[in-house]
Amino acid sequence: MKLLVTGGCGFIGTNFIRLMLAKHPDWSIVNLDKLTYAGNRLNLMDLEESEDRYEFVQGDICEREKVMEILSGKSIDAVVNFAAESHVDRSINDPSPFVITNVGGAQNLMECARQAKIERFVHVSTDEVYGTLGATGKFTESTPMAPNSPYSASKAGADMMARAYFETYGFPILVTRCSNNYGPYQFPEKLIPLLFLNAKADKQLPVYGDGMNVRDWIYVDDHCLGVELTLTKGREGQAYNFGGNAEEPNITVVKTLLSLLGKPESLITYVTDRPGHDKRYAMDYSLAAAELGFAPTLNFADGLKKTLDWYEANTTWLEQVQSGEYRTFMDTWYEERD
Ligand code: NAD
Ligand code: TYD
Repeated sequence: MKLLVTGGCGFIGTNFIRLMLAKHPDWSIVNLDKLTYAGNRLNLMDLEESEDRYEFVQGDICEREKVMEILSGKSIDAVVNFAAESHVDRSINDPSPFVITNVGGAQNLMECARQAKIERFVHVSTDEVYGTLGATGKFTESTPMAPNSPYSASKAGADMMARAYFETYGFPILVTRCSNNYGPYQFPEKLIPLLFLNAKADKQLPVYGDGMNVRDWIYVDDHCLGVELTLTKGREGQAYNFGGNAEEPNITVVKTLLSLLGKPESLITYVTDRPGHDKRYAMDYSLAAAELGFAPTLNFADGLKKTLDWYEANTTWLEQVQSGEYRTFMDTWYEERD
């Protein structure tokens, strides 16, 4: 199979490409990535240099001609769309790029794939389209979408478009909705790598609000497994939930990480809450379990340890990605809100 993966130089895309090329000797992958602040071509440079089944193309999913050229010119069989603006805090700061890429770009990709008669299209979405939960219950695929941030609203827009492409054109599209990922190559403005970076430097760890917001954490390889199963076994037109069975309040994550790194809890600083901050996410993934045979393989304690070991061993990567725009955004973000 020849796959077009978009956003493959980001966190999840990098892990997905590595895993799929290792697991499927008969697959080859073209990676289309715009290389925004969150995309790092060096993540996959070893493959670029040594693997014939991998090709990198720099470009934007919003560009009709470029996407058509790849789909038809490179005889692509299937598309997996990871490309997105993905950070909630950035979406609060400026929603426009989120609408452009996450809605407009996703629709452009769907349209090009429809015209090129692509056999299968997996659109990677998120649990955040469902909004927020109270103290109990879980999101199922039939929970109504109720996004609360510009990020989740833009992702919900693309999910709606995916539904419309299936219903209107019979386009072979499938959607995945997953909870919070963590693992190697995650850009250090998301919670876990940001905590690692600050703790190592004995800097304050910013906890939004009272720290009691709950996220369900999934190790990135388990999400990649969910995407793979959706691509190979899923029902066209269906959305599938994926989760890690690891619901934790943020403050517990922060304290666990400090303890694993041998750092004091005095580094914790409570900062002004994120506006519209979703209280709790939890995933019912029984549909994916029943139809695709999905189950997460790694528990949170082992996954977190593995992740911290990777960051410890890859400080050069961390230094590489923390330049220019990243610094400007994160350094001013808290002060501007306080
Ligand atoms: P990321 O921000 O680390 O990477 C996004 C990648 O997309 C980057 O390489 C970036 O350069 C690229 N990109 C952005 N705009 C583009 C455009 N217009 N054209 C081409 N490439 C573009 O994101 P991630 O955490 O790897 O998330 C990947 C996908 O998974 C996203 O769609 C996100 O919504 C979804 N998701 C993420 C999580 C999570 O916890 N990180 C959970 C569920 C779903
Ligand atoms: P994040 O990694 O940004 O993912 P998302 O907002 O998509 O869930 O944040 C995870 C949780 O951690 C979320 O409840 C916000 C919180 N958070 C902090 O408390 N401090 C931080 O510095 C960051 C980045 C996030």
